[in-house]
Amino acid sequence: MTTTEVTISNPNLILGIESSCDETAAAILAFQDIENAEILSSVVYSQTELHERFGGVVPEIAARAHAERLDLCVQESLQRSQTCLKDMTAIAVTAGPGLIGGLHSGVMFAKGLAIGADKPLIGVNHLAGHALTPRLTHSASYPYLMLLVSGGHCQFLIVKGAERFERIGGTIDDAPGEAFDKAARLLGLAQPGGPAIEAAAKTGNPKAFSFPRPLLDRPGCDLSFSGLKTAILRARDQLVSEQSGLFAQDVADFCASFQSAVGDVLAEKSKRALDIYLSQNPQTPIFCVAGGVAANQTLRAKLTEAAQGKGAEFIAPPLALCTDNAAMIAYAGAERYLAETRSELDLVARPRWPLDTTKAGLIGGGKKGAKA
Ligand code: KG4
Ligand code: ZN
Repeated sequence: MTTTEVTISNPNLILGIESSCDETAAAILAFQDIENAEILSSVVYSQTELHERFGGVVPEIAARAHAERLDLCVQESLQRSQTCLKDMTAIAVTAGPGLIGGLHSGVMFAKGLAIGADKPLIGVNHLAGHALTPRLTHSASYPYLMLLVSGGHCQFLIVKGAERFERIGGTIDDAPGEAFDKAARLLGLAQPGGPAIEAAAKTGNPKAFSFPRPLLDRPGCDLSFSGLKTAILRARDQLVSEQSGLFAQDVADFCASFQSAVGDVLAEKSKRALDIYLSQNPQTPIFCVAGGVAANQTLRAKLTEAAQGKGAEFIAPPLALCTDNAAMIAYAGAERYLAETRSELDLVARPRWPLDTTKAGLIGGGKKGAKA
């Protein structure tokens, strides 16, 4: 959550609303032009504790919780930014992709606000929110390469404009965050699995188990993570049958070896994605990462090395803006607003909404439901 004083004179103000998965979020963004945007407030209500005991996000619980909390969340974002609804220039809302119930909650709520306060409504693609974040945080100039790695998504995008994305690779099954969460469950660690695995891996040996590096033997930059989970399951069951249980050191070794495998795959595929991106001759090459998995320090180090090896600048937005938030939705809304894109009141929530419609859809159903 951030609160800053308004330093832009007579700014446009956008209220951003996010409810596509298990975070209810609202943010106020001030901007004069797109180069000068400032987050005035960003409020995120996590639903982790509601879903914890079910071992994953329960869509119906998520949708209901969003509906119950959206008004409080928006109110808090207005209070923190010391603004009112009537000050807003427009209202931006995530309209997809994601869990349909949560998306409906957000879209219906935003429509109500737009009608009541007589403000323009702008439907935003959640993935565009992530993909445009480096412009908000680092003024990254187009075109840049983005690796989106979260609990629901995994794709390489060449971001060419606010509405122009080329997807050059993605997961063919699980997202990396899902793999971390499932691996943690297999090892009896807490959810979300990513931070738990990263912590346990600190005292583990990354070479203790030789887990597969899926799809490295195939050209291109598509990825696969579901086999890693099966590899852990097998190795765990074998060890348990040999020694009748797992020692803390075994768990640490599993975590370090798993993390190392994910890191190697992401780094190698990033190098290939960078080659494709660099062949398009960007003047100042930039490689960005976003999504909760980007919080992992070991993975970040490998990705930084991959970028440096190819002569590209590496950008990782601050963690609060890597994970789901509404500031990124407000920013993507601002880009759309300045491009004079508005949504009508018949705006519909879309569980699938690929950024690159020229490519076949990604397969697999993640934490967020169907992959975009
Ligand atoms: O972007 P995010 O907050 O939500 C979406 O899925 O959209 O990402 C959450 C995912 C979870 O699967 C979580 O286990 C993973 O990001 N994650 C991590 C770390 N922190 C969060 N994965 C690896 N290492 C971490 N430190
Ligand atoms: Zn997300």
